[in-house]
Amino acid sequence: MPAPIGVFDSGYGGLTILKELKKKLPEYDYLYLGDNARAPYGTRSFDTVYQYTLEAVNWFFAQGCDLVILACNTASAKALRNIQQKILPTLDPHKRVLGVIRPTTEVVGNFTNTHTVGIMATVGTVQSNSYPIELAKLFPDVKVFQQACPMWVPLIENGEYDEPGADYFVKQYLEALFNQSADIDTILLACTHYPLLEAKIRSYLPSGVKLVLQGAIVANSLAKYLEMHPEMAQKCSQNSQLAFFTTDEPAAFEKQASLFFGQKIEAKHTDLA
Ligand code: DGL
Repeated sequence: MPAPIGVFDSGYGGLTILKELKKKLPEYDYLYLGDNARAPYGTRSFDTVYQYTLEAVNWFFAQGCDLVILACNTASAKALRNIQQKILPTLDPHKRVLGVIRPTTEVVGNFTNTHTVGIMATVGTVQSNSYPIELAKLFPDVKVFQQACPMWVPLIENGEYDEPGADYFVKQYLEALFNQSADIDTILLACTHYPLLEAKIRSYLPSGVKLVLQGAIVANSLAKYLEMHPEMAQKCSQNSQLAFFTTDEPAAFEKQASLFFGQKIEAKHTDLA
């Protein structure tokens, strides 16, 4: 029976991706899960993020989903490869789990004229080196510089993203990135939370530097994937329905989620472990 496309994030960030998926592919149904009770993932170990993400993927499969998007860079960096290579072949080779890093790296190298890209992400994503590794395969002539921004997720989650206090940390991480290379002309926001800081980040960008957000890129990539895989598209239900689950308190989730998703939502609680 066709089922919604699963969209997973450690918390709220994946909603910035879901917003674009819904815009690009409004006919599909989506089931969103935020593991808010255990967020943030960005500072957690490889094994922990893998374990939590696997539990989430199993939850989506138990709901009947055949296609799950890890709309979280940290989970994509630390858990996706193992899930794709070790878990899916034995668990169910007909199901698919896709991430956000591969579709992003497929295009981000096209934006730079100086062949120099800056990646701003969580500590976990930076330490995984997933972006430099993937970009080296697809754009070998592009130099990649990374900057971990550990204060951005807490600022965003505490509603400070458009307050004066956020300016300090936006400037600090941008400066640290440009100190690594003055040639950077393209910056990728490689954490699904960061679009909430877009206005502040833009206000401190040197002129001529492009800011790349992932949502539309991931949505375009999913559209192409579904076109190329009609057998998977058929397994995804198409009634334009949305459902939201959180591992934490639904009322708090609903309040924050509307900021990330741009519209009011209703959420239910679920346990994973
Ligand atoms: N939104 C997640 C990402 O894209 C990070 C948030 C967290 O640290 O849990 O990496």
